[in-house]
Amino acid sequence: MSDHRIELIVNGRRHAAIVDARSSLGEFLREALGYTGTHLACEHGVCGACTVRVDGMAVRACLMLAVQADGCAVVTVEGLAAADGTLHPVQQALKDNFGLQCGFCTPGVAITLAAVTENNPAVTVEEMEQAMSGHICRCTGYQGIRRAIRQLAGQLAGQLAGESAGGGHEHE
Ligand code: FES
Ligand code: FES
Repeated sequence: MSDHRIELIVNGRRHAAIVDARSSLGEFLREALGYTGTHLACEHGVCGACTVRVDGMAVRACLMLAVQADGCAVVTVEGLAAADGTLHPVQQALKDNFGLQCGFCTPGVAITLAAVTENNPAVTVEEMEQAMSGHICRCTGYQGIRRAIRQLAGQLAGQLAGESAGGGHEHE
């Protein structure tokens, strides 16, 4: 066994820990830090349930070692909503459109959609659907998720139109 000291920020909070070199980021987040919203299922990169953001990018927490996250900023599903409890637009869209049933896949779906919409506000419905190809949902048949994607695309288009009409100023 080989232990390493790492420091990282998770959902805005700094954590320092000693981790086994073989521990995945997903195991570390769940078992050492208690962020159990990150779900582990296949644990070999297929299902997407474990997806978290690392320095803004959506990554499979089962395929990344905890030591590789040293110095990184990680966001899990627990960090998506605002501090006052206001849901992230992606969470709200999934809720509005019954985009979840058991919810097992939902943290990963929400994290990926948050990453693609924040990294590219001009993202298309097709690109968001393509991003969903990395997520296996056992429950919904994907129709609710696709409705949520269309809602998000409409909101993003409205924001972009508002920004170009208003000279690109932020509204908040
Ligand atoms: S648990 Fe990581 S992709 Fe399935
Ligand atoms: S909502 Fe049950 S696995 Fe997707």
